[in-house]
Amino acid sequence: MTSNATSLIELPTDLDCTHLPKHIAAIMDGNGRWAKRRGFPRMMGHKHGANALRELLRCCKDWGIGALTVYAFSTENWGRSIEEVDFLMTLFENLFQIELAEMVAEQVKLDVVGNLDNVPPSLRSAIDRAVTATQDNQGVRFTVAINYGGRQEIVRACQTIATQVQQGLIKSTDIDENTISKHLHTADLPDPDLLIRTSGEMRISNFLLWQLAYAEIYVTDTLWPDFDRRAFHLALLDYQQRHRRFGKA
Ligand code: IPE
Ligand code: IPE
Ligand code: MG
Repeated sequence: MTSNATSLIELPTDLDCTHLPKHIAAIMDGNGRWAKRRGFPRMMGHKHGANALRELLRCCKDWGIGALTVYAFSTENWGRSIEEVDFLMTLFENLFQIELAEMVAEQVKLDVVGNLDNVPPSLRSAIDRAVTATQDNQGVRFTVAINYGGRQEIVRACQTIATQVQQGLIKSTDIDENTISKHLHTADLPDPDLLIRTSGEMRISNFLLWQLAYAEIYVTDTLWPDFDRRAFHLALLDYQQRHRRFGKA
């Protein structure tokens, strides 16, 4: 049996397999509040959040969703306490190491987007190893945004394009939307069809500003560590009721 056939069997029967988002973006928010409600330190929320992410990635594979992009650390998150930032960097490093075998086995193709110049070198090495080991995989495209900011990404693209104009490689009048898209970290992915944000916040917090132009936005009060298969199922049901018009009547 092919993996595609397996995913059709496992897809909940009330979901239409011909109308699933091809690319889902997620702002994994609410780890701190999840921990606080239980009287735990914030770090415990991040640890449980990692479990929710593992489950979501597996669910994307099972249900035939081709690409998942998650916001793990924003350029603004450096403003948190040193303890929390250090904890998160170490957690990411451990996860890239521990989950690598599973990602290889599940054919996940990993990418990490964001400015990795100022993340700890040991995290950078773990990322390099995991990205290299999974680059030929044909399964879910899994993109993790670390030290990512949508505005910074657009600024960087503009700088590269301006240099090309200066060097006479392209004409300024040739710059179009496709030129910008091609210079973003996500150049080889379709734009997300669906953005999920947990914890009830109605904002996009500098995530994929260009790419989310026409994404359907789903906000749930569920806190990220509680975002399980059932919560994902509800998000997909909601998505399938949307009428995407793209500006047309
Ligand atoms: C999201 O959860 C995880 C990161 C930003 C790294 P938060 O840590 O923002 O959790 P809340 O919003 O404080 O509850
Ligand atoms: C967005 O969550 C960033 C990540 C989930 C990594 P934040 O908790 O940092 O966003 P704000 O501060 O609520 O906008
Ligand atoms: Mg938050």
